[in-house]
Amino acid sequence: MAVYLITGIAGFIGSSLARAVLAQGDAVRGVDNFSTGKPGNIAEIRDRIDFREADLLDLKAAREACHEIDYVFHEAAIPSVPRSVLDPLESNQANLDATVHLLLAAREAKVKRLVFAASSAAYGDSPTLPKHEAMQPTPISPYAVAKLACEYYLTSFYRCYGLETVSLRYFNIFGPRQDPSSPYSGVLAQFITKMLKREQPTIFGDGKQSRDFTYIDNVVEANLLACKAPATEVAGRVFNVATARGVDLNETFQVLKKLTGYTGEVKYGPERTGDVKHSVADISRTEKYLGYKPRVNFEEGLARTIEWYKTEWAGLYGQPLS
Ligand code: UD1
Repeated sequence: MAVYLITGIAGFIGSSLARAVLAQGDAVRGVDNFSTGKPGNIAEIRDRIDFREADLLDLKAAREACHEIDYVFHEAAIPSVPRSVLDPLESNQANLDATVHLLLAAREAKVKRLVFAASSAAYGDSPTLPKHEAMQPTPISPYAVAKLACEYYLTSFYRCYGLETVSLRYFNIFGPRQDPSSPYSGVLAQFITKMLKREQPTIFGDGKQSRDFTYIDNVVEANLLACKAPATEVAGRVFNVATARGVDLNETFQVLKKLTGYTGEVKYGPERTGDVKHSVADISRTEKYLGYKPRVNFEEGLARTIEWYKTEWAGLYGQPLS
């Protein structure tokens, strides 16, 4: 039985990874400082994991977290482009400084491999589509810069110290347990919950911006594959995790209208500073080296997510929908 450390375990992605690791019969240790994570996300598995409330900016806590760990999934972050534009120092500390601490601790603890939640935000506004990993990154927001700098640190720790690291560039992940309650929440979580409550959602800009919306189960699978792939092929490298299909926000709104039964219209507001216009991935490198295939498509993912918000969200957070 292997032991996995999941940072940001009380977050949407971290808590989904924890369930998958437990399901394959391995052990989970988790850390979270609850800056964006929610205790409710791990309540149901709390007695089956070694949970520690800790902040990776505390190097001692990072070292204790990595002690006797085989694999690390590093999901802890403040995952918001606009929040980083408002507070770049906070973004840098939570997203970059904390990662360097974790890398140091993982190297000392001789973990087998560390897999990192990198971001497609690193591609920025380069006009080439789809985005592939060999492209020159052109990050726009402080968030994107911090996430990209982490990737370089991961590669450096592999090349300088032999710590096996893999960066997975996530493209707009969505699914059950994504928090819809903050203005910084992902667009699908916000739109779905608003539309179920018959509240009007707002599109920032003209709605022609596109995203490669990726259902959470695909991301979980990519992480598990990243632990298993041969080091000679994946260590120190970067891989897109996406579906290779872009959908614009206007179209997304129309699809959600059908699925939620919302009959109103959308409101348009000013474009968001730091926003990327188009984001669609080339996933051929991930398919080739990780054996990854997106198994749940956009529509199926949306249907499952809407069902979850309808049936589970109220129970967890006491905010009934529809
Ligand atoms: C998202 C992730 C980020 C990740 C990146 C990778 C979230 C919160 N952020 O950033 O962690 O690294 O993808 O691709 O999941 N929008 C609206 N109305 C709203 C909210 C958003 O029109 O109410 C628009 C935004 O202006 C943007 C698009 O929807 O154009 C997507 O926004 P968002 O969900 O915040 O994600 P990203 O900024 O793409």
